[in-house]
Amino acid sequence: MSQIPADIERVLLTEDQIQKRVGELAAQISRDYASVDNLVMIGVLKGAFMFLSDLARRLEIPRSVDFIAVTSYGKSAHSSGEVRFIMDLREPTMGKHVLLVEDIVDSGHTLAYLHHTLQGRHPASLRTAALVRKSRRSMDVHLDYLGFEIPDVWVVGYGLDYADQYRTLPYIAELKKSAYEKPGR
Ligand code: PRP
Repeated sequence: MSQIPADIERVLLTEDQIQKRVGELAAQISRDYASVDNLVMIGVLKGAFMFLSDLARRLEIPRSVDFIAVTSYGKSAHSSGEVRFIMDLREPTMGKHVLLVEDIVDSGHTLAYLHHTLQGRHPASLRTAALVRKSRRSMDVHLDYLGFEIPDVWVVGYGLDYADQYRTLPYIAELKKSAYEKPGR
């Protein structure tokens, strides 16, 4: 493992743990969609880019990828949960088998919003996958494929960021409180 940045408190999920679990999820998804002519994997930018690319490469079924970008107003437990589109899909999803791929379910607002929005476009089927979920925090949104439950701490790495940093770390780690409580940041 390369040098761990100073702002990291501890590694929660190592690269090996993540890759092993992604392989298991890919095998399960490949089995579940064995009879489907094409699976459209939709990655939620920016965070899902790593999970989507690793998962997509490990599938053993015909698949294509597309991306969507949204942002939510506020991340606190008391936020409105309002989600705003930044970028829509390139291709229509009507009549297609769709798998929505998220890096993290935190409050659950983003996934709930996207599930509702995509369902309204009448896909042949719609399922959801997330690598990690903060189970103590998230609202009750249905996940078909989940990598790991994690504690309610600020996590970075493997697509997850703090101020757009740390996304490319190959592991998921807890960020030190001092990193996001620094004056002026
Ligand atoms: C993060 C993450 C999820 C969402 C989860 O995205 O990638 O999409 O938050 O949070 P929620 O369950 O509370 O809705 P963010 O809005 O930070 O954008 P990013 O992926 O571009 O960092």
